[in-house]
Amino acid sequence: MITINFKKRKFYLLTLLVLVFSLALNINTAPVQAGSDELPSLHEAYSEYFSIGAAVNSSTINTHRNLIEKHFNSLTAENEMKFDHLQPREGFFTFSRADEIVKLARENNMKVRGHVLVWHSQTPDWVFVDKGKTASREVLLERMENHIKTVVERYKDDVYAWDVVNEAISDDGYQTHREDSPWYQIIGEDYIAEAFRIAHEADPEARLFYNDYNAVQPQKMNKIYNMLKGLLEDGVPVHGIGIQGHWDISSPSVIDIMQAIEKYASLGLEVQITELDISVFPWNDRRKLAEPTAEMLEKQNKRYQALFNLFKRYQDELTGVILWGVADDSTWKDNHPVQGRKDWPLLFDEDHQPKGAFWEVIQAAE
Ligand code: GLA
Repeated sequence: MITINFKKRKFYLLTLLVLVFSLALNINTAPVQAGSDELPSLHEAYSEYFSIGAAVNSSTINTHRNLIEKHFNSLTAENEMKFDHLQPREGFFTFSRADEIVKLARENNMKVRGHVLVWHSQTPDWVFVDKGKTASREVLLERMENHIKTVVERYKDDVYAWDVVNEAISDDGYQTHREDSPWYQIIGEDYIAEAFRIAHEADPEARLFYNDYNAVQPQKMNKIYNMLKGLLEDGVPVHGIGIQGHWDISSPSVIDIMQAIEKYASLGLEVQITELDISVFPWNDRRKLAEPTAEMLEKQNKRYQALFNLFKRYQDELTGVILWGVADDSTWKDNHPVQGRKDWPLLFDEDHQPKGAFWEVIQAAE
């Protein structure tokens, strides 16, 4: 009797060991795929709070399609809806790349944020020149109107919100507007109001945003706030503020972000975090590394966690959070004009696997 029991116990023990072993092996050899069903979906986790978007481009809509379809319910074209892409020569519009992004959104029932109608950058030189000289205010206003109308009307059924004007406010303490912008120099500061009026006329249903970086830095925030307040008082159809969110592991402070959300929302505007990515380097670290250190990634995890906890707290004011890219193998920060180095700022790694930060964001939703 005793011998049989002992044999049985040995048998159970062995089976258990084999089971544990094969499970462990299985975990090691078959990581959960980022697009797979076992992984929670980012946008589903946040469905009660706000939409979760990503900036995509003509190549990532193919190379990162599984991730995009599973985790995001809003798309922004990283470059394909900018002036230089849509109208490289006067009257010559090229929509095919933007159309592909819109098609992907349509097929997956995603929203599209239009980005961007009027900006000093990525706008072709011809826009500001007429017969070899600087264009007049009238000519530039006419070109602006033609561009906005053509683009906004074309995407009326698909684009629910537009960044109408991008980065019009100066970082310089002595200036309000970015005075080196040719839009400002040629038209004057009312180019902003004009752009919003034209966009509203082209699509009265579209949500119209002013979008900027450093928009939570107190001094610049006050300038943006005053500009928006003035526009609203003049009856200009502005509906939202886009806080870009190209941040890092140490700045800006959560308090600054919180105060900015409250201040902009006090104008009755909806607030979106339109271009979120969190560098693993603090702002004053200029090193280039082959890999991020464990400590950097840990800080990035905590930072994403703190931010999404904050965003969730402001779910009544925030209507969207958009990551500026999909995975760390393809982000603008790697080609940044100053730093130009690997930066690992997103929620999925270079192999498209979820990072620690992804899990923190998922947990913050619970
Ligand atoms: C700004 C623009 C974006 C993009 C980023 C950098 O934030 O709004 O369109 O160009 O810079 O990639």
